[in-house]
Amino acid sequence: MDLSPGALILCSLLCSVAGQAPVVSVQPRTATVRQGESVSFRCQVGRGAQPVQLEWKRATNQALPDNAKLGPDGSVLTVANTRPGNQGQYRCVASNSAGRSTATAVLNVKHAPKVRLTPAGPLRVRMGVPVSVECRATGRPHPTLTWKRQGSTLQLVTAETNDVNTIKWAAVRPEDAGVYICQAVNNEGVTEVKVEIIVEGGAGAPVAVVSNTEMTVVEGHVVTMECQASGSPPPVITWSKLRAPLPWKHTLVGGVLTLTSVGRQDSGQYICNATNIHGYSEAYTQMEVETPPYATCLPDQVRLQPGDSLRLQCLAHGSHPIQFVWSRVGRGSLPAGAETTKDGRLLIAHVKLGDSGTYKCVTTNHIGSSEALAKVIIKGELHTWLV
Ligand SMILES: *[C@@H]1O[C@H](CO)[C@@H](O)[C@H](O)[C@H]1NC(C)=O
Repeated sequence: MDLSPGALILCSLLCSVAGQAPVVSVQPRTATVRQGESVSFRCQVGRGAQPVQLEWKRATNQALPDNAKLGPDGSVLTVANTRPGNQGQYRCVASNSAGRSTATAVLNVKHAPKVRLTPAGPLRVRMGVPVSVECRATGRPHPTLTWKRQGSTLQLVTAETNDVNTIKWAAVRPEDAGVYICQAVNNEGVTEVKVEIIVEGGAGAPVAVVSNTEMTVVEGHVVTMECQASGSPPPVITWSKLRAPLPWKHTLVGGVLTLTSVGRQDSGQYICNATNIHGYSEAYTQMEVETPPYATCLPDQVRLQPGDSLRLQCLAHGSHPIQFVWSRVGRGSLPAGAETTKDGRLLIAHVKLGDSGTYKCVTTNHIGSSEALAKVIIKGELHTWLV
């Protein structure tokens, strides 16, 4: 009975009128059933002024489960087809005008263990690394947990703490590969969950080797990259390019990658990947595509007056280093006073009428050469007026 002091005083004055708060009990106070069975609890009012209202609740104040039903007068709570989640306390609350009181029933649902592995398999692990798998089980009665290897009845020595049974290896070896079973047992049943452990890098694991780890090739040529792999079963070989798709014009036959007519954009890292059931192995070829220079002049045409300064820049794409050589078409040598720089510039501080003509820049690298022309027109004041 939970009556406030005020209510008690009120009761001492009026109880003859209002009567007594109800006194309740539940029958049975504890019930243990198997999963799937049904159970009923009756809430009985010993005394108390009528009318008495009865109400069933879960002790956690949650709503009653959907498989719980109340009898016509609200006194009988039936849980049909029980499941593990129905386990817990149920409270009958009786109230009348004088107050209220409660009684609690406990329901235990026996069930076969449920098992969860963390991580769930299959587990691919490299030889030599630590591995552990946790087995957790719920069940009633409390299950006992054991680990064994598939095909063996031998119980493995494992560590169990707080309902978690953990199988672990400080450094996994190839011979540890296999299927392991966590078994949870109680009176209601036996539940087994398996996890497969695949050890990579052990016997039979692939080892990929490329014939060239670095290649320098000339633009437009055909390139072949070879990859060989040992391992058992024989690994499957694939090629890919780092951060880019393989060049469009490629063929792959038995580990040999052929690129036809390579361009500058095909430079980069190529990866051979050999894979079998024991794992994979990668090998790399770094390829640089070299190109002859391609030259242009900036500007390629210029009009000046005597005394102006001439500035020409020769630009070149292509593999470095690139040399620049300026000359004058039909004359061979540059005018006196012309300066050139290593990076392709031509400078004449004060041009003369005789400096007119076509200037040529020849760019050269170890692959080839390319030239570009610039037309220089120098005219006096008078001539400019006439144009
Ligand atoms: C190589 O193959 C393995 C297994 O198929 C994969 O996990 C890995 O990402 C591959 N490597 C590359 C570079 O594609």
